[in-house]
Amino acid sequence: MHYIRLLRPAKLDGRKPIVSLLITITTDLGDSFLYPDEPVDLLVSADDPLGQSVISKADQGQPFRWTAGMRVLDIKLPVRAHMRSDDVTCTIKIHPATQPLPSGALRSKDVLPWRIGESSSAGWGLIMPVSVEVVRGICSPVSLRTLQLDTGSQPEDQLNLNLELEEDIGESIARHIWDAGVVTASFLADACRTREGVRDILPIRRGVFSVLELGCGVGILGITLALIIEKAAAAQGQVLGKTTVLLTDLAEAEERARSNISRAEKVLSRLPTPFSTVSLQYENLDWDDGKHGQFGPLASAQPWDLIILSDCTYNVDSLPALVGTLSALHTANLRHNESQADTKTLVILATKPRHSSEQALFGLLKADEWRYSVLKSIPLPKLGDDDEVVDIYLLEKGDEKV
Ligand SMILES: C[S@@+](CC[C@H](N)C(=O)[O-])C[C@H]1O[C@@H](n2cnc3c(N)ncnc32)[C@H](O)[C@@H]1O
Repeated sequence: MHYIRLLRPAKLDGRKPIVSLLITITTDLGDSFLYPDEPVDLLVSADDPLGQSVISKADQGQPFRWTAGMRVLDIKLPVRAHMRSDDVTCTIKIHPATQPLPSGALRSKDVLPWRIGESSSAGWGLIMPVSVEVVRGICSPVSLRTLQLDTGSQPEDQLNLNLELEEDIGESIARHIWDAGVVTASFLADACRTREGVRDILPIRRGVFSVLELGCGVGILGITLALIIEKAAAAQGQVLGKTTVLLTDLAEAEERARSNISRAEKVLSRLPTPFSTVSLQYENLDWDDGKHGQFGPLASAQPWDLIILSDCTYNVDSLPALVGTLSALHTANLRHNESQADTKTLVILATKPRHSSEQALFGLLKADEWRYSVLKSIPLPKLGDDDEVVDIYLLEKGDEKV
């Protein structure tokens, strides 16, 4: 997959203001630029909260072209006559011209190979759009990604399941979304369409459900779960009384994760009542502490029905601490469960394998008596010849066999 990225915050310059956007289109690691066989036309919209464009009439809808070999694209758009910079409050969206509505968002079903065939939108999952907000002429220092989660509900319902995630702007690859998160979030939403689809992935057998995410980054996976969990329960004939989703990461991820939780809470508050029982929280959790069973007050407060993580296994040096943390969480689960006999810890682990050394994970898991199986191996929408997949594993430790 490729991602449209802003290389610096948007700018609004001049007495006759011009919106300036310096963008690139790269892979999630930023290690290769989009090199398309055919030029890709991009559209830029900048609508105010009433849906009126702030771009001058003559420049609205003008495409900007990305061709093979490009590394940056400089986009300049004059705003409407008589508008000063501080009159401008809008959301700027940059997306491929061929992308279906809603503009500026990627639909989760366009990421999954078995759903792409349903519409004529094959290939649209290739390029992730980006948005940026401008308030009274001040351009936000963060950009926004929108993934429209398709859980198979009515179209009007789906409008409410727009996952919005703030990301850092610039060339740094920290605090961004990654392929494994996008694909796994899309997979989990899709699984809610049927009872059979969801029961092995998110088995909900009682009225409460608790999920802890390790290495959450901007929060793509945990926040997706918070948004879809009631649909997952409903597909299994269950009604959830209370759901806790706890996002954890290193301290440097905290600010962005908390902002994204606030955005998701607004979405949750607009959903029908059962959704309001979902509590989304954040706490720092360094695996170097976790492997010793040292958890913060939120992580140690309760047993966890499910632990989730995506794209956290590419750094082989941190694998022992990561697996140690998983095992320490299982030990904590045993302590919470008085009978202990039927305590089983479930983990969904998603990874886009990048290097054979990452296989060390499985040796460490076996040594700690984790059982594992592949839930799904999902080929990535791609350009060029690289065959990339996201592998989603189910790990179990405790009483039953996988
Ligand atoms: C590639 S990012 C993936 C982020 C997120 N899961 C996603 O899919 O978008 C890896 C994450 O692991 C976190 N991480 C790395 N080492 C860690 C450690 N020792 N303890 C806790 N988190 C760690 C990083 O801060 C980063 O957010």
